[in-house]
Amino acid sequence: MYNAFFGLNQNPFNMSPDPSFLFRSAQHQEALANLIYGVQSRKGFIVLTGEVGTGKTTLLECLRDFLTAQQITFASMFNSRLTVEQFFELLSYDLDLRCNHHSKTEVLLCLNNMLLERAGLGRTTVLIVDEAHNLEWDVLEEIRLLGNLENRKGKLLQIILAGQQELDSKLERPEFRQLKQRISLRCALRGLDLPDAIAYVNSRISRAGLDHQTILPPELLEEIHFRSQGIPRLINGICDNLLLTAFATEQKVVTLGMLDEVTADMRLEYPEERPFRSHGSMVQAGSGRGQA
Ligand SMILES: Nc1ncnc2c1ncn2[C@@H]1O[C@H](COP(=O)(O)OP(=O)(O)OP(=O)(O)O)[C@@H](O)[C@H]1O
Ligand SMILES: [Mg+2]
Repeated sequence: MYNAFFGLNQNPFNMSPDPSFLFRSAQHQEALANLIYGVQSRKGFIVLTGEVGTGKTTLLECLRDFLTAQQITFASMFNSRLTVEQFFELLSYDLDLRCNHHSKTEVLLCLNNMLLERAGLGRTTVLIVDEAHNLEWDVLEEIRLLGNLENRKGKLLQIILAGQQELDSKLERPEFRQLKQRISLRCALRGLDLPDAIAYVNSRISRAGLDHQTILPPELLEEIHFRSQGIPRLINGICDNLLLTAFATEQKVVTLGMLDEVTADMRLEYPEERPFRSHGSMVQAGSGRGQA
């Protein structure tokens, strides 16, 4: 809606996990490198965790692009509220297994043959499970058993489990200790720090067609970082609403008043007091709505 007004050619703050907008912060870069390294070196289990909205699904999309470009076969599951039967059915569809998709025994036999054959040809096969914190114990147990399949050279199936922080706590539970022991690589995402958050916003706006943006001034970006705690999805939500508000009032530069309005509308919670503020002028501003 506001794109033309600001000279943008697309929406910079779209909520979809679009790899073409990937901002390579050090932590995102490292996590993606780990995922790729883990797959290529047949590490077996890799776990990616992080707070809600920090970029896990976006990184998985980047990984899928990489796997597709490398012609590496993969299955990916984005709905983890599955029964064991549904899990095997989806797996066999995704990997195009030629067997009765409703019979777990047949799927397992067929999968084993396929993995052995592919490993023999030096090929890698990957299973990606997003939202893995939602997986039931019995499905996770089946996944663990799939991770046991190996030949002399390494694991036959590379398994990536991505999920919110509950996944980490789940893996700490005694019933998951066997799975925990098998995890060879772990990566975690946090909120962006201030320099990264500023670079993140600028990189999205630049990707949408506007280099050296002046719509969101630096001190406002600092306040956005504070109120969003550096969480990319929240930054996107705030910035999208800010651009819309500025457009509606025909202003080319976003103000602190607009930010107050937007974060109040979003019912955003952030600490009342900042431990440290570098911009004296902003100290009185903002109406923190207390998490404290
Ligand atoms: N490094 C990044 N570069 C560009 N955009 C990002 C990055 N990290 C997150 N985002 C953006 O933030 C939003 C949320 O990202 P994503 O859906 O990947 O988070 P998530 O960790 O999977 O969240 P959830 O825990 O809710 O599943 C998306 O719009 C995505 O494009
Ligand atoms: Mg996600």
